[in-house]
Amino acid sequence: MTLQIGPHSVQPPVVLAPMAGITNAPFRTLCREFSGGKGLFVSEMITTRALVERDAKTMRLIHFDGTEKPRSIQLYGVDPVTVGKAVRMIVDEDLADHIDLNFGCPVPKVTRKGGGSALPYKRNLLRSILREAVGNAGALPVTMKMRKGIDDDHITYLDAGRIAVEEGVTAIALHGRTAAQHYGGTADWDAIARLKETVPEIPVLGNGDIWSAEDAVRMMRETGCDGVVVGRGCLGRPWLFGDLVAAFEEGGEGTYAQPTLREVARVMVRHAELLGQWLENEERGVIDFRKHVAWYTKGFSIGSELRKKLAITSSLDELDALLSELDLDQPWPIGADGPRGRTSGRNRVVLPDGWLDDPYDCAAVSADAELDTSGG
Ligand SMILES: Cc1cc2nc3c(=O)[nH]c(=O)nc-3n(C[C@H](O)[C@H](O)[C@H](O)COP(=O)(O)O)c2cc1C
Repeated sequence: MTLQIGPHSVQPPVVLAPMAGITNAPFRTLCREFSGGKGLFVSEMITTRALVERDAKTMRLIHFDGTEKPRSIQLYGVDPVTVGKAVRMIVDEDLADHIDLNFGCPVPKVTRKGGGSALPYKRNLLRSILREAVGNAGALPVTMKMRKGIDDDHITYLDAGRIAVEEGVTAIALHGRTAAQHYGGTADWDAIARLKETVPEIPVLGNGDIWSAEDAVRMMRETGCDGVVVGRGCLGRPWLFGDLVAAFEEGGEGTYAQPTLREVARVMVRHAELLGQWLENEERGVIDFRKHVAWYTKGFSIGSELRKKLAITSSLDELDALLSELDLDQPWPIGADGPRGRTSGRNRVVLPDGWLDDPYDCAAVSADAELDTSGG
């Protein structure tokens, strides 16, 4: 089973979801180690304005380890001209092999200005952004990732899908939730099937609530989608990519890595080391790693004191020493692999005044809708 993204054959058809603050080069390296390099691994989102201004932090975020192919960058922008410039920069400077555009961010700071998942409601603005992106991308495939819409009364994904096809977008990923749902409830996989029926011309990728390889195979079967995008299921579990590859290649739906705490601890140290190398500073790497500790250790019996200490480590030696105090022979805690990361819902989406009045007006979104970098 192969997913075709322009010139790139992704086999098996599994994609690591872009996650701000998570899917940087170190985390992608870890996931690729478990998948044997198979699959597609998308960078965390990069704001177009920061990219064209060559902001130092942003330039680090678009770093790829020399072995990563294809190099996949997710961009987030609200202004067609700036998006076009960012895409042109990527092409001219050979910074990536694939560009994904993010239209799914639900955070109020962004939707309040009309950005993120509020943007596709303005069909003409969406079209202009896609046109500029595709028009400047040369041979690079441009894909988009979106939610179902703003809320149940303002569903946008089918219109957005058709616009994307008309503008030459290569593939579409759909997170089966509205912005109002945030991360609560369950993802609507029927919507993924409906999008596939609506845009049969291009690959549709399904996203939302894949916690195991079995879920991934089931999503493909139930929705007819061409590939899957896996986000929170990989938090603290980069080995899920090994399961995913096995499930698709060997039909092993039930493939299920169950590392002991000793094996998990080894991955934790490797993750922290990779972050330190990437940030060129061990302490900063270990500090950045802190947010992953609770995900890796979920379900293991650790004790609250050690758990607290693990969450405030600042050196690899300290991390190693604390891990060695644990009962490392503990088996994988069955049932620990369900929902993790963000899981809460929200009911109201904050929008600019009058935003819903006319889906076809010539809306513009102010540049400060790009200020938030917390994702989708
Ligand atoms: C911490 C975090 C950061 C995220 N950042 C981004 C992002 O930068 N770009 C994006 O398109 N989606 C982002 N998302 C959304 C995910 O890509 C994905 O659509 C969502 O988590 C649903 O998939 P899942 O159920 O497999 O997690 C983020 C999600 C989380 C939990």
